[in-house]
Amino acid sequence: MKHLIKIFSLLFIASLIISCGGDDGKKSKKEKFKIGTKKEITKVKEVKKEKTGNLSNKGIGPVKSVTLGDIDNNMVEEGKAIFKSKCTACHKMGKRFIGPDLTGVTKKQSPEWIMNMILNPDEMVKKDPDAKALLIEYNGSPMANQSLTEEEARKILEYFRTLE
Ligand code: HEC
Repeated sequence: MKHLIKIFSLLFIASLIISCGGDDGKKSKKEKFKIGTKKEITKVKEVKKEKTGNLSNKGIGPVKSVTLGDIDNNMVEEGKAIFKSKCTACHKMGKRFIGPDLTGVTKKQSPEWIMNMILNPDEMVKKDPDAKALLIEYNGSPMANQSLTEEEARKILEYFRTLE
């Protein structure tokens, strides 16, 4: 019996020691976890930075859905003219200028996103993840709202479709 009591008290002490050690163990585990998640967050940011654009993102603005048919050459010509007068102050085709090179933009952004970026850039660069990333990439110089109508923005989109 005495032996049993000794064993039990030893076990009790041992369990106290283990539980204290256990606490420390938990703390360091928590810290490790925190470090781990921080690293993951920066990883996600890096991925976002590399890849702006996402064809399933429609952006934020008046344009909810665009149906594309065969390229309409009249619209292309009108879009090109509007682009020349309203956009070339910041965009040059084939190279980065104040704004991005827009050749091939229809391959990386959805038609809705492009039109919303033209019609609603202020809200887009505040709330849309792709537009926000672009604003950072372009050192905070914002895309200007040129007060186009939806029809004009649609014509510019048609022009963009012809630029590979
Ligand atoms: C005052 C300069 C300025 C003007 C004018 C301007 N933009 Fe921009 N645009 C930018 C900048 C800068 C960006 C990058 C995002 C940002 O910094 O806000 C951009 C981004 C864009 C994007 C997204 C490009 C991408 O890579 O996804 C499109 C599309 C676009 N502009 C179209 C137009 C069109 C069409 C017009 C004319 C109606 C126009 N922009 C006029 C400066 C301008």
